Amino acid sequence: MTSFQDTARVYFPALRSGFVFADNAGGSQCTKLVAERIFDYLLNTNVQPGADYPISVESTRCIAAGPVAAAELFNAASPDEIVFGATSTMNLENLARSLEKDILDDEEIVVTGEHEANVGPWKKLAARKGLTLKHWRPRTTDPSNPYSLTLDVEDLLPLISAKTRIVAFVACSNILGSIVPVKAIVTAARSRAVELGVRKIEFSVDCVAYAPHRRMNVQDWDVDYAVFSFYKLFGPHISALYARAASLRSSISALTHHFLSVDTVGYKLQPGGPGYELVYGAAGVPTYLKGLTPAGTLEATFIASAVHEHVLSERLLGFLRGYAPRVLIVGDPLNGSSRVPTISFVVKGILSRDVVRACDETGTIGIRYGHFYAYTFINELDPKIDIQDGVVRVSLVHYNTLEEVDRIIIALRGVLG
Ligand SMILES: Cc1ncc(COP(=O)(O)O)c(C=O)c1O
Repeated sequence: MTSFQDTARVYFPALRSGFVFADNAGGSQCTKLVAERIFDYLLNTNVQPGADYPISVESTRCIAAGPVAAAELFNAASPDEIVFGATSTMNLENLARSLEKDILDDEEIVVTGEHEANVGPWKKLAARKGLTLKHWRPRTTDPSNPYSLTLDVEDLLPLISAKTRIVAFVACSNILGSIVPVKAIVTAARSRAVELGVRKIEFSVDCVAYAPHRRMNVQDWDVDYAVFSFYKLFGPHISALYARAASLRSSISALTHHFLSVDTVGYKLQPGGPGYELVYGAAGVPTYLKGLTPAGTLEATFIASAVHEHVLSERLLGFLRGYAPRVLIVGDPLNGSSRVPTISFVVKGILSRDVVRACDETGTIGIRYGHFYAYTFINELDPKIDIQDGVVRVSLVHYNTLEEVDRIIIALRGVLG
């Protein structure tokens, strides 16, 4: 029987080279099903959409597939709730700007200090309006490892007040590789805010590091905004933002031209058309994912993917734990069900850059070191680490194999001894 990852690998020609792609949290390989759509759009329907001549009608039809695909991936109620933008960074910056008028000057924003994309826009908005910005910080889970950090809802609740307007957090950290219970967090924070008499509270969830590993479900989570980047989810370099219909109507001010009537649709947050071929290409992502298991559903694929990824994480985490306390895993050292194979660590006495060099020198392994734009988070680690050297990160997805993890381990053993 063909294994899950063997089925997946067929869709990525670059994997045939034998190179170990292990910087997937930076960007995954793009499935053939996406590349074929982009190629087809550019060669056959590359006209301006919205006109009545046949090729423009076809182009419009192709582009409409993008929001449908993103809505399916988010499990949004409607493609009208989808916004496309070049990056998640841009989508979140636009979101924060579009909320500016609906936020009162004495209100508060709570952020997790992770990837700057979901921190910077809120920080800047708070500075522009003089709002209070509160930080929900992670706590350690293993007393012997100061970097065994994870977000705990118990630390969020005291930050919620009657003035809380936005809570912006990550569904999964791009450094720690741990998934947070989004639904439980939203339920607890929303009911605390209501108890305290909040005017209006909304939740913005950064799913960029989550989407490649688990099924998103914005309706079940009861969140108002969510974002992910297709280029980390086997797709093209483009991002999708979910904005709940009610929020589009009542919280968001349009960023579009004044004469466009887009009051209730995601386009309200899209100043100008995104890359049409990429929007169409993105529709290949759910098609790819659903084709990986006989059930043909996103749920089945993400369950199979999590099972396979758990095996990959266990091999690498087990190896790294064997070097404790010289090697400190940054994140949960244990491989629980909320762990994804985004594995960061530091080595006492060896620069992260030098650890990664051991893999670079093989010429066949791609991993990386640095702060990965979680600048504030890495900068605030205690004990401190050099911000530019940062952490070593090995980030795997469902197309990686155990044999590939073993090749990474052999290279790391060369430097760790
Ligand atoms: C958790 C997280 N959020 C946001 C981003 C930003 O995504 P984009 O590159 O699409 O702006 C990244 C990118 O690495 C990320 O890992």
